[in-house]
Amino acid sequence: MAERVIIFDTTLRDGEQSPGISLDAAEKLEIAEQLARLNVDYIEAGFPVASQGDFEAVQGIARTVGRAGGPVIAGLSRTQRTDVDRCWEALKDAARARIHVFISTSPQHMEHMLRMNEAQVKAETAAGVSRAREHTADVEFSPQDATRTPLDFMMEVLEIAVASGATTLNIPDTVGYGIPWDFGALIQYVRREIKGDYILSTHCHNDLGLAVANSLAGVQGGARQIEVCVNGLGERAGNAALEEVVMALKIRPDQFPGLETGVRTEELARTSRLVSRLTGYPVQFNKAVVGRNAFRHESGIHQHGVLAERTTYEIIDADSVGQTGSQIVLGKHSGRHAFSDTLAKMGLTVSGNALNAAFIRFKELADRKVEITDADLEAIVAEEIGTNVEPEFTLEALEVAGGTVAVPNARVVLVRGGEKVEAISEGDGMIDAACQAIRAATGVDSRLTDFNVNAVTGGIDALGDVIIQVVADGIRVSGRGVSTDVVEAAARAYLNAVNKVVRIRARDDRRVPEATP
Ligand code: KIV
Ligand code: ZN
Repeated sequence: MAERVIIFDTTLRDGEQSPGISLDAAEKLEIAEQLARLNVDYIEAGFPVASQGDFEAVQGIARTVGRAGGPVIAGLSRTQRTDVDRCWEALKDAARARIHVFISTSPQHMEHMLRMNEAQVKAETAAGVSRAREHTADVEFSPQDATRTPLDFMMEVLEIAVASGATTLNIPDTVGYGIPWDFGALIQYVRREIKGDYILSTHCHNDLGLAVANSLAGVQGGARQIEVCVNGLGERAGNAALEEVVMALKIRPDQFPGLETGVRTEELARTSRLVSRLTGYPVQFNKAVVGRNAFRHESGIHQHGVLAERTTYEIIDADSVGQTGSQIVLGKHSGRHAFSDTLAKMGLTVSGNALNAAFIRFKELADRKVEITDADLEAIVAEEIGTNVEPEFTLEALEVAGGTVAVPNARVVLVRGGEKVEAISEGDGMIDAACQAIRAATGVDSRLTDFNVNAVTGGIDALGDVIIQVVADGIRVSGRGVSTDVVEAAARAYLNAVNKVVRIRARDDRRVPEATP
């Protein structure tokens, strides 16, 4: 029987620490549900002590996605008793929960951040892990910046963690300093020298582009848990990419004999798209496994080969990772029933007002676009009702004019609580004019900091998928909008972001957290 390599997904914790990403509780829940569908073993849902928003997000995920039969829900915690207790408070309603306790062990971190000596770090480790064990039998311990920690000291700390009750020892390459053979040897050494009943884990950052390679070397060295993020998100250059690690283990059993993950790989592409849309981080075209070019062949020789026999130039079957290409799923004559049926088959649960709103968008789109694909549907559903939260403002009408002579200008009509709000504005271009008009109509003064546009599928009538980032009052959010018209898509993305700002202001929980790992 094959041995399991545990997939510990930290997209919602380390991934959310990517510069510019700020997910609200509803978005986190949506990602967590998809991670459950993907069948990861663990979801690290957040760092509960960091903010009230983080606490509530972890609690919400623990209560819903953490149901019996679902993934184990983990929360991150420093060693302080109050942190550990707060973490447990957020997790305790999950059917299965893990507290992940960490403390820095490298000289750089101990001197400049913790201001603790070795004896203090050891005492903190014992206290934090023991306290976590009072709450749950599933406790992970991480010596942060392990790869720059003197080996003897790291080993002492790990011994203490195991003696205090840690059941998983995670070796974080916090600054992406590891080199595969070196990191693999470190894992092997820990496995050999630290006795006890624990799982060894890797947590690799990608500063040298080696996160996946280091994680795989760790597995060869004896690690049986890999910490990953969807699309390789995470601090700075990111973490090991979930989809790459999982597919490497699957495609090369000769290198990883007798090992397997439980991931449903057919869900990889959809998970990647969802995370990209909600985080506002586009997936690079040539990204392994989930990039749009991962199964495209440009040269005649390659095309000829693949047409004759797929395996000539492809080591992965596109279907096996959910990259099935464009399928026509619905057309302009499809009714509400067929629409909701198709969404259900795609795993998108939508009902009530949300279903009505998505259906209206679908009909509008069907009038403009001949073929509606699953990717199109996902895009409009995600934009309209993705978080199942009623938006404050909805777009009723948009008129724009511009060109090389006239000053670009726009008029928008929004609806708020049944009332129409209208505004007109000029701008540098038509997109700018539309955003200025929305700013005037909503009264939300936000600055656009990033703008990205992609085609959802091919063809001249392709949907434009606009992803933006805006900052308002120190709150940074992403927004997305789709339409066959790129100015409209941009306006929708901008309004989507503004709605988030309004929501966050109302809850006032999105200030910079005091504690970050
Ligand atoms: O990179 C890191 O060291 C971390 C720890 C909190 C595990 O994210
Ligand atoms: Zn990390």
